[in-house]
Amino acid sequence: MCGIVGYIGKKRAMPVLLDGLKRLEYRGYDSAGVAILENTEVKAFKKVGRVENLLKAIETAGELDSMAHIGVAHTRWATHGKPSEENAHPHSDEFGKFWLVHNGIIENYEELKKELSESGVKFSSETDTEVVVQLIAKEMEAGLSFEEAFRVALKKLRGAYGIVVMSADEPEYLMAARNSSPLLIGVGDGEMIVASDASAVVGTTKKIVYLEDGELAKVSADGLKIELIAEAGKELKREAETVDMDASEIEKDGHDFFMHKEIFEIPSAVLNAGRGRFIASEGLVKFGGIEEIKSKLRDIDRIIISACGTAAYAGLLGEYFIEELAGIPVEVEIGSEFRYRSPVFTERTALIVVSQSGETADTLAAVREAKEKGILVLGIVNVVGSTIAREVDCGIYTHAGPEIGVASTKAFISQLTVLLLLAIYLGRQRNLSVNETKEILADLEKLPELLDSILHREKLAKKLAKKYKDFTSMAFLGRKYSFPVALEGALKLKEISYIHGEGYPAGEFKHGPIALLDEKFPVFFILPSDDVYEKSKSNLEEIKARQAPVIAIVTEGNKELMRMADDVLEIPKIANILSPFLSTLWTYLFAYHVADMKNLDVDKPRNLAKSVTVE
Ligand code: G6P
Repeated sequence: MCGIVGYIGKKRAMPVLLDGLKRLEYRGYDSAGVAILENTEVKAFKKVGRVENLLKAIETAGELDSMAHIGVAHTRWATHGKPSEENAHPHSDEFGKFWLVHNGIIENYEELKKELSESGVKFSSETDTEVVVQLIAKEMEAGLSFEEAFRVALKKLRGAYGIVVMSADEPEYLMAARNSSPLLIGVGDGEMIVASDASAVVGTTKKIVYLEDGELAKVSADGLKIELIAEAGKELKREAETVDMDASEIEKDGHDFFMHKEIFEIPSAVLNAGRGRFIASEGLVKFGGIEEIKSKLRDIDRIIISACGTAAYAGLLGEYFIEELAGIPVEVEIGSEFRYRSPVFTERTALIVVSQSGETADTLAAVREAKEKGILVLGIVNVVGSTIAREVDCGIYTHAGPEIGVASTKAFISQLTVLLLLAIYLGRQRNLSVNETKEILADLEKLPELLDSILHREKLAKKLAKKYKDFTSMAFLGRKYSFPVALEGALKLKEISYIHGEGYPAGEFKHGPIALLDEKFPVFFILPSDDVYEKSKSNLEEIKARQAPVIAIVTEGNKELMRMADDVLEIPKIANILSPFLSTLWTYLFAYHVADMKNLDVDKPRNLAKSVTVE
């Protein structure tokens, strides 16, 4: 996601801030900005695109050698509002007094913005971030100190944040705070660097103090005071830790590959995709992005989902979710096929496109074709401001953060999260009961923890990878919700390990592909204890009779499968409709370890590109 750097100390701030931004580039971003303070005068620079562009602009303005010793800087990966100079951080209040950088999402920014606007505050960006800095300025008007105004403003925020802010009137310190978005302070000799990530700091110091959720810090060149946001006046003592990693290790957060890191970000991908969009206890789902077409959606009687690759498999699960919960007929059409068929629409048809990058040419072609025909087009996209996000009628962002590994993982799970919530939303407009909604949402709330419990058992996947890595083909089977998981599991294995994976509906396997099976053709069978379990079990018997080795994904405690399968991977009990989130994670861990053991470049598989912008 976005990156934060703040500096105060004996050195000139500008080079330190720019160096920090460069070290954060690996995280992915679409604009960058910096603000420095010299003798109560703030100079701010913002540019869309690379940090290099920003550097050039600063050089042209003759400010590379500025004497400022305090400043804040940011690389932004758009979440609210397109990538533009107006939306890039640092953001300031109307009077240019406070300059603030923020990572995360402020859930209640719309309410806060409304209140502030009604009291006469003028906004200059589309971001959720700007409300924070405007709030601080507003609280200062009420006579509070900078430190107190910051605290009062924080207490009004709901959501995730790492924040650093400076005040033009108080150049002796920066204020920082953290809630569910990392922030740390590098402690140097007569200098401090606040950053979202240690890689921005290690060039200057290896001594780091980590802020915890719910804490704020007052950071001066030679002092640091940490307190709880909720409680003024009680200083928390925190020793600095010494980090012993180099920058490249830190970028991957200790993981060998970005894909591995991204698999481990899956629990937070679920949280981020759902953040602020549902209240389980009330059975409520809402999306800011589709509010304006709420009544149109009520009239929709047919949905086509179009996407490519992994996103198309998310779409397939979306079909199951929407048909089951909303009762609207859905069909999934691969992007490259949609355009060249003669898809039949009525004015009550809607097209939903799903895309991580928002740039896939085949998916974009589907959007344009549907718009040409005048039907409603809704996008489920990760990259804010991407072409698809801009061209659809309205959309829902998945907020998975940048995905660097070419093979998609956390983006898929975030797409599933949004599709499930959308299915519930459409269902609530129709026949879905509030009680059933509450039950599913309550399980969705538990999901991050259950995903974590699988990640803790990663070594099982590693063990199986060792056992199966030398086979040349494998089938992936599942019924109902587990069928798209089978397709996605097979695709992941193909993409990164170059082993042929064949994803198939378990019940259909006997009509042909079963001919392939023998003891050299293993089967990865996904059969949780759901309403099709007994049927799947019969298919498993057919496979065992052909001597194929079997890995089975089952629901915890399933003793009978322990006997039938050669190897078993367990998922925790959960509502049937949520089982794909858990079983997919096992297929990812398995594929990852197979590829890793084969010493392949997991993040950059041969012949593949992260974003395919050709037809
Ligand atoms: C490429 C990538 C796949 C991805 C597909 C769709 O083929 O290699 O991992 O699933 O594009 O990408 P999108 O960005 O539209 O989700």
